Amino acid sequence: MTEAQTLADQAVPAHVPAHLVKPYDFRSGLGDRPQEAIAGLLDGPAVFWSPVRHVLDKGGAWVVTRSREAREVLANPEVYSSEIQGAFLKAISDDFHLGPLASDPPAHARYRTLINPLFTPKKMFELAPKIEAWCDELIDGFADRGRCDLVPEFADLFPTGIFVDLMGFPRERLAEFLKWNQDFIHGETPDQRLAGIKAITDFFAEIYENPKLAPSNSVVHYLLTSEPDGRPLSRGEFMGVVFLLFSAGLDTVVSSLGFTFRLLAENQELQAHLRANPAELPRHVEEMMRLFSPVTVQRTAVVDTELGGVTIKAGDRLAVSLACASRDPEAFPDPDQLDASRNPNPHLAFGFGIHRCAGAQLARRDIAIALERWFQRIPPFRLAPDSRITAAGGSVLCLDGVVLEWDRMQVPQ
Ligand code: HEM
Repeated sequence: MTEAQTLADQAVPAHVPAHLVKPYDFRSGLGDRPQEAIAGLLDGPAVFWSPVRHVLDKGGAWVVTRSREAREVLANPEVYSSEIQGAFLKAISDDFHLGPLASDPPAHARYRTLINPLFTPKKMFELAPKIEAWCDELIDGFADRGRCDLVPEFADLFPTGIFVDLMGFPRERLAEFLKWNQDFIHGETPDQRLAGIKAITDFFAEIYENPKLAPSNSVVHYLLTSEPDGRPLSRGEFMGVVFLLFSAGLDTVVSSLGFTFRLLAENQELQAHLRANPAELPRHVEEMMRLFSPVTVQRTAVVDTELGGVTIKAGDRLAVSLACASRDPEAFPDPDQLDASRNPNPHLAFGFGIHRCAGAQLARRDIAIALERWFQRIPPFRLAPDSRITAAGGSVLCLDGVVLEWDRMQVPQ
C-alpha cells in the first residue's frame, strides 16, 4: 500500500485542528541515522496528529515528541491505556495476552509480581558468566577473520542465545528461534509477521500442554507453576508472557548493539578511552541508550483529556517517540552530544512509569558485556569501507549493514 493510499484510508478526526495534522511515518524515510532524523520533530509541536498508520489494526495517532508530555502519558495509565489487544494479536488465539505490556492497573501488578524476580541483581550476577561465554563463542566465529558483519554475525544471535539459556530451552533450538524472530520482527507483510509469532507461540503452547518439556530449574517451569495473585497463568497468559520475554529483549538489544558499535567504530578516540577505562562502561552505555533510544510506544486515551495544550478524545491512539523525547533539549542540554557525565540521566529509552522495562538491567548488562568481551578479544575496530548501513524504522529502530574490520593479530612464527 502506498503512503497516499494509507492516508486516504485515514480520516482525520473532527477534533484535530488542521495545523496539527502532519503525516509522519516512523517506518520509512529516516535514513541511516534515524534518531537524528526523528529529533527533527523537536522543531515542531509537542503533540501533533499523524494520519499515517502507526499500529497494525488502526490508523492515525497523536505523536508525542517532548520529554515532559511523554512522561505525562506514561505516568498516567488510567488516562492512557496499554490494553492494545488488537485484531492482529487476537489472530493468535482469543485468549492470547501480552501480560504486563498489554495491561493497566490493577491487572498489571499481577504480571510484574511474576516477572520482576527474574531480573534481580542476584539473577543478573548469576547469568553474567553465561552471557560472557556465549559472547566469546560468537566472537570465536570471526575474530581471526579481521572482519564481521555485526548484525547477522553477532547482534542477532547474542540476545537470542541468552533468551534460550535463560528460559532453559536446548541450544539446538536456537536456529529455529532466530528464524521465527526474523519473520516476526522483519517480516514484510502482516501475514509473515503473524506466521513468525504463531510459530513461536505454538512452541510455547506445546510446553503448556506438556509441562514435562520444561526443565525443572527453568524460567518456563517457574512461569508454569507460579500463582501470582493466587491463581496460575491461563494458557493465553502463559503464551503471551513467554512471548513477551522472548520478543522484548531481542530486537531492542540488537538495535542498541548496532548503534553502539557503529558509534565506537566511527569514534576511535572514544573506543580507545573505553578500552583503557572499562570502569566507565556503565555510564557510557547509559548515555548511548539515551542517544539511541530505539522504541516508540503506543497508548490509547480512555477518557477525554488535554496534553501539551491539545484536546485528546477517548479512543485516540498515541505514539510516544522515546527517541525524540530522549533528545529533548529542555531535559538534556546539548542533546545530540554523547556526554557520559550527565547526572542524573533521566532518558526514556526504557520507558517510564509502571511499564518501565522489566529487563533494563539485563539489557544494560548484555551491552556492557558485549563491549567488554570485544575489547578483550578484538583489536581496535573501524567501519569497513564496504559497509552499507541501512536503518529499519517502525516501533523499534534497528541498523543493518554495519561491517566492522580490524587489523588481524600477528601470530609469532
Ligand atoms: C536495550 C534494550 C531494551 C530496550 C531499549 C527496552 C525498552 C523497553 C520499553 C521502552 C518498554 C516500555 C514499553 C511501554 O511502556 O509500553 C519496555 C518494556 C518491557 N521490556 Fe524492555 N527493553 C529492552 C530490553 C529488554 C530485555 C532484555 C527484556 C527481557 C528479556 C525486556 C523486557 C521487557 C518487558 C517484560 C517489558 C514490559 C514491562 C511492562 O509492561 O510492565 N526488555 N522495554
